[in-house]
Amino acid sequence: MLSGRLHLLCAVTALAALLVVLQAQTTPLFPVACELNVLIILDRSDSVKGGFNKSRKFVTDVSEELQIGPSKHRMAMIVYSGLSYRREVFNWNFAKTNEEFVRVTNNLRAIGGTTNTKKALEVGLELLSQRNQTIPTLVLVVTDGRRVIIYCEHRGEDNASLVTQTTVAGTSSWSDCRSADDPKGPGQQMQQLYNTWVFAAATGEPEKVDTRELIDITGNINHIVMHRGRELATDITKRLLREAQDKCRTTTTTTTTTTTTTTTNPITGCELDLVLVIDFSTTTDPISGFYKDLSKRLVSSLKIGPHYTQVAVVTFATVGRTRVRFNLKKFKTQEEVLRAINGLESKGGTTAIGEGIRLGTTMASEEEGARPGIATKVMVVFTDGWSNKGPDPSQMAKKAVSEGFEVFTVAYTAKVKNAVTTNNETLKEVSQDGAHSFTDNDYQKLIDRIRQRNLPCL
Ligand SMILES: *[C@@H]1O[C@H](CO)[C@@H](O)[C@H](O)[C@H]1NC(C)=O
Ligand SMILES: *[C@@H]1O[C@H](CO)[C@@H](O)[C@H](O)[C@H]1NC(C)=O
Ligand SMILES: *[C@@H]1O[C@H](CO)[C@@H](O)[C@H](O)[C@H]1NC(C)=O
Ligand SMILES: *[C@@H]1O[C@H](CO)[C@@H](O)[C@H](O)[C@H]1NC(C)=O
Repeated sequence: MLSGRLHLLCAVTALAALLVVLQAQTTPLFPVACELNVLIILDRSDSVKGGFNKSRKFVTDVSEELQIGPSKHRMAMIVYSGLSYRREVFNWNFAKTNEEFVRVTNNLRAIGGTTNTKKALEVGLELLSQRNQTIPTLVLVVTDGRRVIIYCEHRGEDNASLVTQTTVAGTSSWSDCRSADDPKGPGQQMQQLYNTWVFAAATGEPEKVDTRELIDITGNINHIVMHRGRELATDITKRLLREAQDKCRTTTTTTTTTTTTTTTNPITGCELDLVLVIDFSTTTDPISGFYKDLSKRLVSSLKIGPHYTQVAVVTFATVGRTRVRFNLKKFKTQEEVLRAINGLESKGGTTAIGEGIRLGTTMASEEEGARPGIATKVMVVFTDGWSNKGPDPSQMAKKAVSEGFEVFTVAYTAKVKNAVTTNNETLKEVSQDGAHSFTDNDYQKLIDRIRQRNLPCL
């Protein structure tokens, strides 16, 4: 199974292909260890509007793969922009938990202006000198990847006149045309530190990224993570981290012979906690059968199991009639889940979408079988969008998103006797954005998207 999985990754991205090669040479692309120092160097200049928010989201998303704390993944962070702006430096172990890390990071705000990566790396070197050297270190420079505009001067052909020009870093053929804050020096120093891996992630559009600067920082093109096709930089980084820790687990079990527990949970990378929230109120009575069919289609295309997709179903009607039909840990096979969905019956009532989403969100706890930090969380709300009872659907949806769910809506639009038209306002508010709102017509696209998570294991 593993080789098949590697094979698939290989086909997916060149980066992954390199990973395989590097693994064969026993030089891991990522540090393989259960304990790590992780230094985040985060560019807070907002060269593209919203660029910083993207970078910040990247950092918090990636942190889900870590177990932050003084005995596991020890974090430090530098948030920087131009020279004249205040830099924020968070020392080692500033966050004792993942929650604390996310809270601190989410409080960071963008500052416009220029970027001085060189200075940030110099501060990084200082921080790194205080790291715990007995464990490996991962440095991750995160930027929206903007091109640095630099000012160049060089002699004209007559060797007398001075030609000046502003240019985009990385595009000039003049070797002397480098920005004053060329990060190459401190970058190289960092790369040479014992047991240290330097990575850079660009969260902006790949074609706008100044690759040369990032190569200067990392010293290795394979240490640059960018969006590739439909795969986001976040996904790639998360996968690398996950695989590194996967190996670390195997290493621990094979070398620590004293460990009696051989039941280590291997991370497959296909973990998905899927919560289906289905409208069973009267307004949708004629189509609750279709919602069931759509749910079954989705479940049938996924790999179900404790190491893959786990499914929970919440049905909603009136507030009092909204209930968890089964939680994430109830069923372990696809047949069981399909049978359970088949057996659902609509009793009708008023409509309380918000309550359905609220209850769906409670599935995120370990008691319900969720795998926080390991599984991706997806909620699919099947509804026509009409709500007349209970908490505000859009607020509940926002809360679900803030707890890590990716929230989709699916409306049934085909003509059905007695069915009402869809309330597109609410559908739009509940799904995170237009790209998260589907109907029976484009449902296959949603399936394909959710299925991505299981692909490596199918
Ligand atoms: C970035 O996020 C902050 C709060 O987290 C928000 O106030 C701001 O509007 C966002 N900026 C953009 C451009 O989206
Ligand atoms: C460094 O990490 C090792 C391994 O976890 C630990 O045993 C040691 O106490 C740490 N050293 C310091 C100074 O924190
Ligand atoms: C151009 O000027 C530089 C320094 O000013 C000098 O070293 C070089 O020899 C000159 N080259 C020519 C072709 O005159
Ligand atoms: C609501 O969305 C559906 C599906 O996209 C579409 O068919 C319908 O025309 C929309 N209704 C309104 C009133 O815009």
